[in-house]
Amino acid sequence: MTEAKITTANMQTENTVWHNQQISKVQRAELKQQKPALLWYTGLSGSGKSTVANAVDALLFKLGCHSYLLDGDNVRHGLNGDLGFSDEARIENIRRISEVAKLFLDAGLVVSTAFISPFASDRALAKAKLEDGEFIEVFIDTPISICEQRDPKGLYKKARSGEIKDFTGIDSTYDVPTAPQIHVKTDSLSIAQCAEQIVAYLIDQSFISAEGFQPSSV
Ligand code: ADX
Repeated sequence: MTEAKITTANMQTENTVWHNQQISKVQRAELKQQKPALLWYTGLSGSGKSTVANAVDALLFKLGCHSYLLDGDNVRHGLNGDLGFSDEARIENIRRISEVAKLFLDAGLVVSTAFISPFASDRALAKAKLEDGEFIEVFIDTPISICEQRDPKGLYKKARSGEIKDFTGIDSTYDVPTAPQIHVKTDSLSIAQCAEQIVAYLIDQSFISAEGFQPSSV
């Protein structure tokens, strides 16, 4: 597929006016009895971001929390279907996702985004769009050797043989998070334990209520 020229990052807001909505973010969150938050998952391809984020989302749903998950490959099938994997395309991918996530937070939700999001500068930009404390960086820390062993989509194999270029961790950069709010070491925990670690953080930081949470392992 030929990549479309990326022009949307050039803001054209000159003749538009921001309207404040009648119902505020605070009111929407109060109705849901939770504080909006963005769980920003980052990690290599095959690290388990989607799997863990789905487990967290299911647990939050069970606890009666209003949440939504924006998942890497799914978003690239629709909204970001025009973007490839050059540095420029990845930057635009993350910019759009952070804007969409911000809208979901405005709706009062606890949002999860599961994208490699390899560049620390883009993660910082996403954080800067939100209110203090709302951005929670979740580092899904799986060594590349394990990701490559798993290779669920056969992409590492293709990257090693040169069939795919610009593959994260092979010939494209991944900036390891230096101070993530949540550091999940997937090689020593089960998926359920990873999910509980993340939900426990949300409870501890008073984003959601502890009611009904029965951690088995944290
Ligand atoms: S990001 O770097 O722009 O944040 P994103 O999370 O949306 O990436 O998409 C990553 C997914 O796209 C991977 O899990 C993998 O399935 C697929 N993919 C295809 N080509 C590449 C590539 N060159 N590098 C990384 N992932 C790729």
